[in-house]
Amino acid sequence: MNQHTFDLSGKDNKTGAGSLLVKGEVDTRHGPILYLEDVSVSFDGFKALNQLSLYIEAGELRCLIGPNGAGKTTLMDVITGKTRPDTGSVFFGQTIDLLQMDEPAIAQAGICRKFQKPSVFDALTVFENMELALKADKRTWPTLFHRLTGEQTDRIHEITGTIGLSSSHQLRAGILSHGQKQWLEIGMLLMQEPKVMLVDEPIAGMTHQEVERTAELLLSLQGQRSIVVVEHDMEFVRSIARKVTVLHEGSVLTEGTMDEVQNDPRVIQVYLGG
Ligand SMILES: Nc1ncnc2c1ncn2[C@@H]1O[C@H](COP(=O)(O)OP(=O)(O)OP(=O)(O)O)[C@@H](O)[C@H]1O
Ligand SMILES: [Mg+2]
Repeated sequence: MNQHTFDLSGKDNKTGAGSLLVKGEVDTRHGPILYLEDVSVSFDGFKALNQLSLYIEAGELRCLIGPNGAGKTTLMDVITGKTRPDTGSVFFGQTIDLLQMDEPAIAQAGICRKFQKPSVFDALTVFENMELALKADKRTWPTLFHRLTGEQTDRIHEITGTIGLSSSHQLRAGILSHGQKQWLEIGMLLMQEPKVMLVDEPIAGMTHQEVERTAELLLSLQGQRSIVVVEHDMEFVRSIARKVTVLHEGSVLTEGTMDEVQNDPRVIQVYLGG
């Protein structure tokens, strides 16, 4: 069916648990990798998040849905340190208090975010974009055009395989399709071995076939890291859904399987009730 197949073997991250980027380890032995409890965010008195509590397990793929203005993007802003909540707590594993960290430190700790618009460098090749992502990784040698180690080259090859761009290393990113650019950006994030990836509306503007490949890609990425996907397209959500969380007016309305949430009268009311 596809000329590119995504790597489902999940065998990246050779370095294992010792490779965490943070000073303190992300401790998930006793439960979730992300804890948000009683988080509230107000904008001029309007509560974009209202005593929201949410728990994301290590390795899970979570879908986050909800009508416009429900607070989905604000939630991602809180997790990544872009927005500070007025109240509540946000922890990464058992011990890392994200509210004590700024945006770069949170990213460095292993929580990364894919914005809607791809921000790859059009003038550079696929491979060079991946090299740049290595440069963004503070653990590596801080210049772009140093010789890559064999291990680094292997990692780029492995990840371009995962994102279906193995045969496009030497192509300029500018000539990639919109979907391929989105995958390249996901690949660039993967170079930094995130523990949590937040993905806001990944399929906007994609062709049907690209949407299908994106679903395969996201499914293949779970397990090694946690993924939180915000998306309005319910057909797409159904195609990747494990546990689905429905946000409404800044709080969690309900959680469950896609069937459970879609048959929940409160969810139907929220989507149809206006
Ligand atoms: N910086 C801001 N200043 C004022 N209001 C804001 C700000 N950011 C978000 N809001 C408001 O907070 C509410 C939640 O917004 P948010 O963007 O989180 O919703 P969303 O669920 O991502 O919606 P969408 O599905 O449309 O992307 C909205 O009513 C929005 O207008
Ligand atoms: Mg949004």
